[in-house]
Amino acid sequence: MLEVQNQAEGKTAMSVQFDFDFAPGLPAPASKWNGFPKYNFIGGHNDAEHVPVEALIAAATSVLRREGSSLATYGLNSGPLGYRPLREFLVRKLKAHAGIVCQADEILITSGSLQGLDLVNSLLLSPGDTVLVERDCYSGSLSRLSRRGVKAIGIELDSGGLRPDLVANTLADLKGRGIRPKYLYTIPTVQNPTGTIMSEERRAELLQLTRAYGVPIFEDECYSDLIWDGQRPPALYALGGGAGVIHIGSFSKSISPALRVGYIVANWDVLSRILALKTDAGSGALEQMVLAEYCTAHFSEHVHNLNRGLRGKLDALIAALAEQFGTAAEFEDPKGGIFLWLKLPDGVDTQKLAQAALAEGLAINPGPEWSTDKDHARARLRLCFANPGKETIRQGVAALAQICHREFGVPTRIANITPG
Ligand SMILES: Cc1ncc(COP(=O)(O)O)c(C=O)c1O
Repeated sequence: MLEVQNQAEGKTAMSVQFDFDFAPGLPAPASKWNGFPKYNFIGGHNDAEHVPVEALIAAATSVLRREGSSLATYGLNSGPLGYRPLREFLVRKLKAHAGIVCQADEILITSGSLQGLDLVNSLLLSPGDTVLVERDCYSGSLSRLSRRGVKAIGIELDSGGLRPDLVANTLADLKGRGIRPKYLYTIPTVQNPTGTIMSEERRAELLQLTRAYGVPIFEDECYSDLIWDGQRPPALYALGGGAGVIHIGSFSKSISPALRVGYIVANWDVLSRILALKTDAGSGALEQMVLAEYCTAHFSEHVHNLNRGLRGKLDALIAALAEQFGTAAEFEDPKGGIFLWLKLPDGVDTQKLAQAALAEGLAINPGPEWSTDKDHARARLRLCFANPGKETIRQGVAALAQICHREFGVPTRIANITPG
């Protein structure tokens, strides 16, 4: 029951009561936002110092002066796929970075790659379907699958990313049971949360395998611009010549997540079906115009500087963990990205740790939300190091060590001191 009061000058002028008859099957209500915690190691926020504010202002000014009147039309005279100069920039960037050869009309601009995930899922999935995913996987992808009533089978990764030998076993096993997965979802280039990059050999093996079983690949390259040494194998989409692979990407991690600009790359026979599902009359035009203008001139240089800054923050995080947790925190040095995926001793329950930490203004992502295997991920957690400054990282890790010691008795020594 909701009571609405219309107050004017401190007096209640009207009071109405009514019930909304909500549709069945809605997700749990969202909670109200109360600001960011002091030590914020969650989400995929970016480094505030590396938002190119002045250059974005210049790009906005010049593109609006030149083409601002095209805001009068839906789709900016570029049609429903999105602002053409942005798609043309992507054609060049995807070829140079990921080896993808495609046309501007094989790219659909979306409202973040989250809309890409939703559109591809709407295209391919029905309740009761099965898909293959990496065992440790982006929680936004896992939650989307479970909301659709889709079974996600998680396949182990190692330091080289998803293991094709285990994919082969799983595909054979499923085939024996008459099940054909609707897709294999992978984040091959700077995986979330593990930060691994899949080798070209593995990519080729995966393509061969999935083709043999008639399973398409859904490739998510959200973080592929953030690689410390800039070295990466061609995208699965490139190696597959565009057949049987749908590729999504984003400007969230390279420029800004708040802009909400992502994209889907697919052959027109697939993209035309996806486009028919995108019923929002186009994603925000101003963001697309500014990005096209900015990226055409500055993308490579910007990403190079951003990566240097992110690597510096990762070094600060690794040093703080070594000092505060010693050998109690195990992790591999990620090849890029904004996350560190780490393991604490087995007795630690990171969901409980996350709750205790949040009560003290420190946010972490507990492992079980980032994995199909809750037991395997119980003592694991994900830390985003992109947004906090280095000093905040140091203080946050010290605070986390104190909380973890109080709740679970580990680390036994903090900064080389045995806590009393
Ligand atoms: C793997 C992966 N895919 C997609 C997204 C969605 O990003 P966006 O909608 O901001 O492009 C994220 C965000 O963190 C992600 O980690």
